[in-house]
Amino acid sequence: MHPPESNLVLLGGGGHALVVAEAAALAGHFVVGFYDDRPDAALARRVAAVRLGSLDDFLNAEGAVSYIITIGDTSTRAALEHRVRRGRPAARPCRALVHPRALVAPSAELGAGAFVAPGAVVHSFASIAEHAIINSGAIVEHECRVGEHAHLAPASALGGNVSVGRATLVGLGARVIPNIKIGHDALIGAGAVVIRDVPDHARVVGVPARLLDA
Ligand SMILES: CC(C)(COP(=O)(O)OP(=O)(O)OC[C@H]1O[C@@H](n2cnc3c(N)ncnc32)[C@H](O)[C@@H]1OP(=O)(O)O)[C@@H](O)C(=O)NCCC(=O)NCCS
Repeated sequence: MHPPESNLVLLGGGGHALVVAEAAALAGHFVVGFYDDRPDAALARRVAAVRLGSLDDFLNAEGAVSYIITIGDTSTRAALEHRVRRGRPAARPCRALVHPRALVAPSAELGAGAFVAPGAVVHSFASIAEHAIINSGAIVEHECRVGEHAHLAPASALGGNVSVGRATLVGLGARVIPNIKIGHDALIGAGAVVIRDVPDHARVVGVPARLLDA
């Protein structure tokens, strides 16, 4: 038998959900199942998790439940969380889910529903807000602040005291030098090296990073 607080439902059954489902099992959770609008979502095919219904089915159900959003896209994550708060207030994001092979400093803070993937490092006094993703091998140096629903893609790295705004994506392998401020709903392209602050909603690419849409 599993204590109820370790029972977890996943919102989203695509590629990111595969990683979270396996990490959740390794971290001692029981994955009750997942909700996805697609009956043939990857999670059902690959790890034989139970599809409990569509996302609307989740919102229309009643009762307390512990969930984690398992969709990598930052704006979709934020919109879904908004719908859950309004539509099913008894549902609660799980405590941050940390893969057993991730390294999180004792002084770091992790918000509810955040996910820290294998090989990721979250260093001293960093703070990771609710529902953020620190993906495989990402490095978050000391005193960084990562906003709600932000996604640090695999192998990305933040130098010390960087802040990343809400629902911003830091792409695969991107690097950010220390003390930089990145706004909300921004996008850092894969492989970029960010050496200047990035405004809200901006997309930057390259080495050094430049505005894509300027
Ligand atoms: C930045 C990004 C969103 C741009 O995508 P897009 O809007 O489809 O842009 P395009 O592919 O049309 O490229 C537009 C221009 O930017 C350049 N460009 C795009 N991505 C780039 C990158 N990562 N680095 C350098 N240049 C890049 C293209 O070469 C192109 O240049 P050109 O106009 O001189 O030909 C995308 O390439 C990217 O890097 N996404 C991050 C993906 C990621 O890491 N996801 C995490 C998964 S876990």
